[in-house]
Amino acid sequence: MNVPVKPQHFYSYDEFDAAFVRSRVAEFREQVQRRLSGALTEEEFRPLRLMNGLYLQLHAYMLRIAVPYGTLSSTQMRQFAHIAEKWDKGYGHFTTRQNIQFNWPKLVDVPDILDALADVNMHAIQTSGNCIRNVTADHFSGVAADEIADPRPTAELLRQWSSNHPEFSFLPRKFKVAVSGAVHDRAATRVHDVGLRIVQNEGGEIGYEVLAGGGLGRTPMVGHIVREFLPKAELLPYMEALMRVYNSHGRRDNKFKARIKILVHETGLDEIREQIEAEFESLDKAAIAADPAEIARIEAQFVPPAYEALPDVSDVMKKAKAANSEFARFVDINTAPHKQAGYTIVTVSLKPIGGVPGDATAAQMRVLAEVSDKYSLSELRVSHEQNIVLPYVKKDDLFALWQELKAADLATANASLITDIISCPGLDYCSLATARSIPIAQAISERFADPDRQRLIGKLGIKISGCINACGHHHVAGIGILGLEKSGEESYQITLGGDPTLSASIGERLGPGLRAEEVPDAIERIVGVYLAHRDLDEDFIHTYRRIGHDAFKSALVTGTPRAPAASPLDQGGGI
Ligand code: HEM
Ligand code: SF4
Repeated sequence: MNVPVKPQHFYSYDEFDAAFVRSRVAEFREQVQRRLSGALTEEEFRPLRLMNGLYLQLHAYMLRIAVPYGTLSSTQMRQFAHIAEKWDKGYGHFTTRQNIQFNWPKLVDVPDILDALADVNMHAIQTSGNCIRNVTADHFSGVAADEIADPRPTAELLRQWSSNHPEFSFLPRKFKVAVSGAVHDRAATRVHDVGLRIVQNEGGEIGYEVLAGGGLGRTPMVGHIVREFLPKAELLPYMEALMRVYNSHGRRDNKFKARIKILVHETGLDEIREQIEAEFESLDKAAIAADPAEIARIEAQFVPPAYEALPDVSDVMKKAKAANSEFARFVDINTAPHKQAGYTIVTVSLKPIGGVPGDATAAQMRVLAEVSDKYSLSELRVSHEQNIVLPYVKKDDLFALWQELKAADLATANASLITDIISCPGLDYCSLATARSIPIAQAISERFADPDRQRLIGKLGIKISGCINACGHHHVAGIGILGLEKSGEESYQITLGGDPTLSASIGERLGPGLRAEEVPDAIERIVGVYLAHRDLDEDFIHTYRRIGHDAFKSALVTGTPRAPAASPLDQGGGI
């Protein structure tokens, strides 16, 4: 039975979607039975399980479930809590690609888990393999003050188009698409295989800037603009053309050179542009373009909710801030400007000091579902920074919300600060890992636990990957940490100056690898150099670009960490 998925201002399955997902679960149930009975070997079973998001990790199977464009209802969050409790070890892990991963399911239970997901219109299809993966979007979609248009109808259209697309199910390699509809890029569009930015041309028409060839992994690259303005109606034909060029010419001889970034790099930007345009011209565009009625139907599913007419300044919030400095800190750090007066966007950090980045317990998931019902129109978002977002909070309700979050250890005021660390699972779970990453995140988090010091340091992203695959986005972190193995020992390489936004850049290596226990001191010294050189309220990346990489080289020389210099940063300002 499919449970109605609240609320109505985001996409819900139609009968076709529901029947399709259900039939896939039934099919997989049979395959699991055949594996359990020994009729299928693990090798034979592998492609079947991967098509259903089931990986085999170091200690157990891992199930990866897509949260399309990061939008989640309270009903769906409750179902995650139920799954975590009934079939896993009581927690789940939110990832950098707006997925959730369960790390300990038993194979025999996986079909039941998938049925439980289908009950709430969710699945794990295309979360693995060489296909178009979960299409991600700005986690502030539909509510950000700097938004041009909600990117989710685009992401939903692409989800429908790419799901089981017969031509693009066996691409040279996986394919990741991110969509942003705002002035600021919060979706890391420049480091995806394809990034779509909703833009407005001089005539006021809405369309897309199309970026291609970005990606992380062992060969990190920043994407290039392949089309400056693509009219909205031409999205699917253009994507079809782009995918065809990649599918025909992407390298299949070497999996490390198979992503579109290598094709763009080896072919050259002008040539690849021409190839895509030629393919585009040869297509029957009208046959591929989405029916305007279907676009209208999708867009109708994302209409903004019925907001209350409120003054933008909330006296309730102001008074609570004045009376409670901890709450004031939370407001300054973990909220973002909303497009609707009187409302705010709240980031719920899944990075408590010393915790596992991105993990949430079943109890916390239930609290999140409950507070979203009470204060955020039953809707939540999963951010690529491994946090949860409540998109529709009235400023008047913020203090009450904060108190409930605090009681569940969910009120850490560190969004975008030095302890808001992104980390992949690393050697604690991942079979490809060369080093641990979670314990490094925990050690750094504990070292910088002091909230005043964190605030003084300001916006600074630390991102950690446990191997060269770069799932933790370390290449695009102000401070990136890559765990490798050197002569049987874990070794950590530090990169500086990465940036995932529109001014994207790949971090540069600072020097030789460090031992795990040396990492927090090195970070301390890097921060020391930054604080000693920064101009008034300049954040890390800007200071880095101004003073240059070499200024930080001394930070790797072992010695006493430099004490942070006093900062002129206004303590009362938001970050
Ligand atoms: C659990 C086992 C995992 C496996 C086996 C795995 C495997 C890989 C591999 C092989 C790559 C490199 C792809 C390439 O460049 O061709 C990669 C990249 C990536 N993975 Fe994972 N990954 C895992 C978990 C995760 C997790 C937990 C996250 C999120 C926290 C994640 C997010 C990403 C991202 C963002 C990238 C880099 C972006 C890109 O594809 O260029 N992966 N992964
Ligand atoms: S970066 Fe490496 S260690 Fe980390 S999750 Fe990805 S494949 Fe595993």
